[in-house]
Amino acid sequence: MSVDVLVGTQWGDEGKGKLIDVLTRDIDMVVRFQGGNNAGHTVEIGKEKYVLHLVPSGIFRPGVACIVGNGLVVDPISLAGEMQELSRRGLDVSVIELSCKSQMIFQYQKEMDALKEAKCSSDKKIGTTKRGIGPAYADKAHRVGIRGIELKNLTKLEKLFREQALIYNKVFVEAGAAELDIDAEWVKVKAAAEYLAPFVKDTVLTVNRAIKAGKKILCEGAQGMWLDIDHGTYPYVTSSNTTTGGACTGAGIAPKHIGTVWGVMKAYTTRVGEGPFPTELLDQSGEDLRQAGGEFGATTGRPRRCGWFDAVACSYSCMVNGVDKLTMTKMDVLDDLSELKICTAYEIDGVITKDMPTSSEELTKIKPIYETIAGWNSPTTGIRKWDDLPENAKKYLERIAELVDSEIGIVSVGPKREQTFSV
Ligand code: GDP
Ligand code: IMO
Ligand code: MG
Repeated sequence: MSVDVLVGTQWGDEGKGKLIDVLTRDIDMVVRFQGGNNAGHTVEIGKEKYVLHLVPSGIFRPGVACIVGNGLVVDPISLAGEMQELSRRGLDVSVIELSCKSQMIFQYQKEMDALKEAKCSSDKKIGTTKRGIGPAYADKAHRVGIRGIELKNLTKLEKLFREQALIYNKVFVEAGAAELDIDAEWVKVKAAAEYLAPFVKDTVLTVNRAIKAGKKILCEGAQGMWLDIDHGTYPYVTSSNTTTGGACTGAGIAPKHIGTVWGVMKAYTTRVGEGPFPTELLDQSGEDLRQAGGEFGATTGRPRRCGWFDAVACSYSCMVNGVDKLTMTKMDVLDDLSELKICTAYEIDGVITKDMPTSSEELTKIKPIYETIAGWNSPTTGIRKWDDLPENAKKYLERIAELVDSEIGIVSVGPKREQTFSV
């Protein structure tokens, strides 16, 4: 098969960007298929550090085509800014194509996102990135969204933008919030549209022609399984399908073309924003993990909530995503711990289960049941092959693979490209 898919299997920030960059060594095209600039994908190459929000993480490998697919919600001002910045840093952005069917995000959707969060009682807040993701996907479903194709026709774009902005402004007035300065905003949108217009293409044709030509394609997931709108910890989720199936709808790829599914797993768990997190560590050990792992959001800078590895959640995730190979990241962050815990089951109202519950009431009642594994207490950052890993690190990884019923394919022991090895 020529299309592989890489997805996050937890609550996002598993290290997808780094792994896409590593795997793209042998790839012709990288395709983002969902989400928007809520994503923050970090790639470190030499002394340079990049955080990508909309541009696919294949951009660092010369000649690799980078597709922003139809399933995305795209803030044109943000995408144009990101491309201009990458170009300034010496990267060739001419390899990027933006789907004519992708949905645009404008300032009014961002303000609606922030307003909704501000108006909610604290137990109802999602803790969104305030990038307008939910309102933009809602507009898509309401069939009032503005698509990438419109960036090519400024007269039509202006009309559509002003119509929608006026509708939003009425809502803002009713809610007692400030109205959007439509004229001022249009100036920014127009500049972004002029920059992006030449990149707008029918990317479904581009991707399928590449498949036919036998090119190797890698689809880049954003967020993670438990933020999926259908399968995640609803309503504390994002507004797209972050799971493997999203690659088919969000890029226009038929399921028969999908080959290997890479599931990225952090060696512990993190979550940004609100919602259930069964293995969260609320004491000093959680703070220690946050500091050791540098767990602060790549998009919003918020501290990430940290906890032990949750094999119940990850096993469900591997099932839904059809994970073939695991890529385990951030093993090095656990180097100094004398013992580690893996959650192998949940206790809910005195009943033990290995299945992830679906109701939010049950999700908040979970008491994790842990298995303790001895730590390895030695640095792994310089290790480049499986045989050189400390025995306890191997045991930890092998136990996880067994619990989630998948094979380990790649281990990552640091943020740099070279701190990675295949198993
Ligand atoms: P993504 O959203 O899944 O691409 O992940 P983020 O970029 O939001 O967060 C992952 C963070 O961990 C980034 O700062 C990466 O540079 C870093 N990272 C990735 N893999 C490793 C690893 O194996 N070890 C360490 N220490 N950091 C890593
Ligand atoms: P990457 O691709 C981690 C979270 C937000 C919030 C929820 C909904 O870098 O892994 P949204 O703005 O999407 O409506 O917010 O989803 N969230 C992420 N958490 N990594 C991400 O992306 C995320 N994108 C959204 O914090 O809880
Ligand atoms: Mg991230």
